[in-house]
Amino acid sequence: MIGVFDSGLGGLSVLAAIAHALPRAELVYLADTAHVPYGDKPDGFITGRVLAIGRHLADAGCKLIVVACNTATTAAIQALRDHLPEIPVVGVEPGVKPAAQSSAARHIAVLATEATARSPRLAHLIRAHADGTRVDVVPCPGWATHVETLRPDTPAFRAEVAAKIEPLLAAGADRLVLGCTHYAFLAPLIAPLLRDRAEIVDVAAAVARQVVRLYGDRHDGQAHLRLLATAHPERLRAALPALGLHALAARAGSATQVSP
Ligand code: DGL
Repeated sequence: MIGVFDSGLGGLSVLAAIAHALPRAELVYLADTAHVPYGDKPDGFITGRVLAIGRHLADAGCKLIVVACNTATTAAIQALRDHLPEIPVVGVEPGVKPAAQSSAARHIAVLATEATARSPRLAHLIRAHADGTRVDVVPCPGWATHVETLRPDTPAFRAEVAAKIEPLLAAGADRLVLGCTHYAFLAPLIAPLLRDRAEIVDVAAAVARQVVRLYGDRHDGQAHLRLLATAHPERLRAALPALGLHALAARAGSATQVSP
């Protein structure tokens, strides 16, 4: 069984890619909805949540854990690996490398939570993989919470997204990195703004490939998806069709509340 978690719904974008790549694997998804968002919380708090959730998933029988959250990966993936040395842990980090490699303008932008934007880990990623490329790191407070409402397409939010992205495009950025897994669900709002000036970079498929490498295409007996949430489990279940994740919805049972 593979355990995948996030602060809330964002990691479902990564889970969908994993489920597609591994149709025979048993999956469990944990949304820490009692504590969403992580992006405006201190690193110590996020680390505490990541360790508690990692332990919960390991005790439930997960043989691989995916931290489907850039913020949690940035703050705590090393602590989680130290805490669970027997379990492979895959994280999600902004796609700075593929964006810098493919940017003709040598100018990219990274959209992220406040915690990810300020992190030394992102600064390191940029130094390591975007030498000679201009990288605008753009914190987007409130965006993940907006995705949690399942109704991000309001005129006011559409205007907020445009106000954030237009100046980046006007300055010449030709790659927009989605540095938060929630933002995959904002792609329908972002894409129409680009008008051939830039492309969106999302790493969900690359994360799924890494999971396949580590886990293999095992037959787990039940290719089932178990849903867990620390608050409002029924909302997690309802989010699957609402976000257009019909293949996940078909694989999932009802959602259960847990308290790691
Ligand atoms: N989905 C998460 C990320 O990738 C966290 C969003 C949040 O909880 O602030 O960063």
